[in-house]
Amino acid sequence: MAGLRVLLIPGSARTGSWNLKLAQAAATVLRELGAEPSVADLRALALPVYDADLEAAQGVPAGASALARQMAGHDAFVVVSPEYNAFPTPLLINTIDWVSRLPEGMKAMNGKPAALLSASPGALGGLRSLLVLRNFLSINPAMLVIPPQFALGNAAQAFTADGALADEKQAKSLHGVLAALLKTATALRA
Ligand SMILES: Cc1cc2nc3c(=O)[nH]c(=O)nc-3n(C[C@H](O)[C@H](O)[C@H](O)COP(=O)(O)O)c2cc1C
Repeated sequence: MAGLRVLLIPGSARTGSWNLKLAQAAATVLRELGAEPSVADLRALALPVYDADLEAAQGVPAGASALARQMAGHDAFVVVSPEYNAFPTPLLINTIDWVSRLPEGMKAMNGKPAALLSASPGALGGLRSLLVLRNFLSINPAMLVIPPQFALGNAAQAFTADGALADEKQAKSLHGVLAALLKTATALRA
């Protein structure tokens, strides 16, 4: 599994985001598994809400090209999004929509394996949004979203001081999803 580059994409840019914390915990596990993780910063892309008139007048914003380039340099993705009203966040959907307007953006996503994670202070951990996210990422960006996924409930109580998952069963679930992602990415690369 050595050398697999995995881009973690948090769907929240909030200071203190539980999903960013989960992305960072996942990055640590990926490193332990021999992969090379990096974490994307969607806020830094400064993408406006998608607007076809704006696109016609000014083209696709530079932030979308930057993410497309970053995605092109990775073998697999881990998308880690909060659930807003049982849906992935507007930040995440809007970002992927912009990237999908670029041929190189579509190419950077198409056929690459992805794993889905979510975290919430609520009991279900954002689980309801993952089905929507799975459809969204599988159909047009055509990512190969792997079947195992992980939703972290009660996220405010879930992390140790050093950012790992405190509960052994949850840590094992996260590890299982990430190991399955690397296995798929390895098979696809071969
Ligand atoms: C508009 C909105 C809708 C929300 N809907 C849900 C929901 O459907 N399910 C849920 O578990 N939490 C919901 N939440 C609470 C989020 O899970 C919570 O704000 C969480 O901390 C956001 O993720 P973050 O910590 O990574 O920023 C909602 C929050 C907002 C702002």
